Amino acid sequence: MINNAGIVRTARFDEVPYEEYQRHLDVHYFGALRVCRAAWPHLLKSPAGRVVNTISQAMLGNPDMSHYGGSKGALFGLTRNLAVEGLAAGVMVNAIAPGAGTRMAEASADSLSPEVMEYMRTQLRPEHVAPVAAYLVHPDCTVTGEVFNVAGGIVNRLALVNTVGIHDPSLTVDTVAERFDEIMAISPDAMPQVVAPAEVPASS
Ligand SMILES: NC(=O)c1ccc[n+]([C@@H]2O[C@H](COP(=O)([O-])OP(=O)(O)OC[C@H]3O[C@@H](n4cnc5c(N)ncnc54)[C@H](O)[C@@H]3O)[C@@H](O)[C@H]2O)c1
Repeated sequence: MINNAGIVRTARFDEVPYEEYQRHLDVHYFGALRVCRAAWPHLLKSPAGRVVNTISQAMLGNPDMSHYGGSKGALFGLTRNLAVEGLAAGVMVNAIAPGAGTRMAEASADSLSPEVMEYMRTQLRPEHVAPVAAYLVHPDCTVTGEVFNVAGGIVNRLALVNTVGIHDPSLTVDTVAERFDEIMAISPDAMPQVVAPAEVPASS
């Protein structure tokens, strides 16, 4: 199942009417959620239940997209949680964050330069995105809870990591300030946040 429906309108945070936040949540979050709820019992029974939700890099921060990006962030959270719930039954739930010169991109043309629009129209084609969505719903795909950025032939994984950080049971504000570089540092030991089976405690 691929949830792809989407809308966008760009506006500054303090100018977006509340109704527009609701509309973006209704289409992106509740739209995908309702389809997932209807399909879920069938996906659980299927030998190859696969879901792909369409999210956006805007959830990580784009100018004038707080309503759009926020609703895609909500769908990202749903994706991860369904990935956890579907794990035992083998239902794989992933997301793509596409970039393509579509009707939606045309609708945002006012906020993009003519050069960027031309690049999107000619170089970032929807047919560059479709193969990744198709792969993720194929029975051979066994990853879950992942996000892939897809645009113009580029495909990469958006990885979430927990840094090693610090552990200090007598933590103070001063400690946080003094050790902030350690909290921030992404060392080779940083732990990617993956959806994986919970460890079963050894029976006694
Ligand atoms: N084009 C991009 O660069 C880009 C970037 C990031 C994310 N996305 C996401 O990709 C997905 C596809 O968008 P696109 O770029 O092909 O745009 P598009 O406008 O060409 O396609 C969006 C489709 O969603 C449908 N839709 C909108 N509201 C709906 C509703 N309530 N119920 C059913 N269908 C509805 C529209 O009719 C349209 O067919 C969207 O979720 C969008 O947010 C696109």
